[in-house]
Amino acid sequence: MAGNRILSGMQPSGQLHLGNYHGALKNWISMQDSFDCFFFIADLHSLTTLYEDPQLLKKYSFEVAVDWLSSGLDPEKCTLFVQSEIPEHAELHLILSMMVPVPWLERNPTYKEKQDEVKNIDMSSYGFLGYPVLQTADIVLYKANAVPVGIDQVPHLELSREIIRRFNKLYKKKVFIEPEAKISDVPKLNGIDGRKMSKSYNNAIFLSDSEKDITKKVKGMLTDPARGRRIDPGDPEACNLFPMHKIYSTVKMQGEIISACKNAEIGCGDCKQKLADNLLESMLPNMEKRKEVAAKPKEVYEILRAGTEKARKVARATLLEAKTAMKII
Ligand code: TRP
Ligand code: SF4
Repeated sequence: MAGNRILSGMQPSGQLHLGNYHGALKNWISMQDSFDCFFFIADLHSLTTLYEDPQLLKKYSFEVAVDWLSSGLDPEKCTLFVQSEIPEHAELHLILSMMVPVPWLERNPTYKEKQDEVKNIDMSSYGFLGYPVLQTADIVLYKANAVPVGIDQVPHLELSREIIRRFNKLYKKKVFIEPEAKISDVPKLNGIDGRKMSKSYNNAIFLSDSEKDITKKVKGMLTDPARGRRIDPGDPEACNLFPMHKIYSTVKMQGEIISACKNAEIGCGDCKQKLADNLLESMLPNMEKRKEVAAKPKEVYEILRAGTEKARKVARATLLEAKTAMKII
């Protein structure tokens, strides 16, 4: 299926939340019927932040796999694998690192942003600087034509393309393919406190939360601060909850809420209940599926093992081709 290959990875940060689902997973699921998809758990990338607690990686990777399968990624349709179990990623990363000028990496906006943003972990490692080089190895090993990612990953993809061109030019062979970024338009989804939904902010609704937890979290969501009292009119556009209505409620209901909120005809409590009902209805099938998946951990491991075996064959062939082009084999 040449020309049809999609590849993407996700760092295992533990249980996935609605932000991860809408930002990536949903998009992946929609692609599995039409493309030759390879999706992997980027656990080596996670070591850039988890190097002090690496024992968490295995647990987190398993949780991510359970979330993938319960949400509808189908191992019959796509290849699911674990990055660290394919040593070709590490080897190609090393080879590529020899030809990537450090200033290219220092220019990467994520590199700078994370240094400023992350205060509790020392992000000045050699490995973190080389994050996009490892990501390039991930992509080229599978000769991916397109890489579905969020907009934040676009600079990484651009860098990958530069590295690929440099490699192909140096060794006079088009071993690697320059992939297209397939940008998913991620709806704005904030956490319950109004900040970006993130596990580390403790404000996320997880795919694995119980019905009770979800209702409780929705009930605790920040709303338009102008509505201090029930009689104060509000504005859904200024409300942290409303973006979720845009995803989970019908257009009709959204219209009703807009007008009722602006005229103080609905209380935030009722508005939240409506959201909780719609959210739960949409999540229910996956919650059922999760019970089945989580009850059979051996099957989850077997899916990853089989996917990894299949992926490794592809990775091995590409690495061989690269080393042959370089005449180092
Ligand atoms: N950097 C990506 C993220 O944090 C994860 C990732 C690693 C990736 N390797 C990749 C995504 C290769 C696409 C292709 O979201
Ligand atoms: Fe937000 Fe709904 Fe309250 Fe309006 S009524 S402020 S949309 S929660």
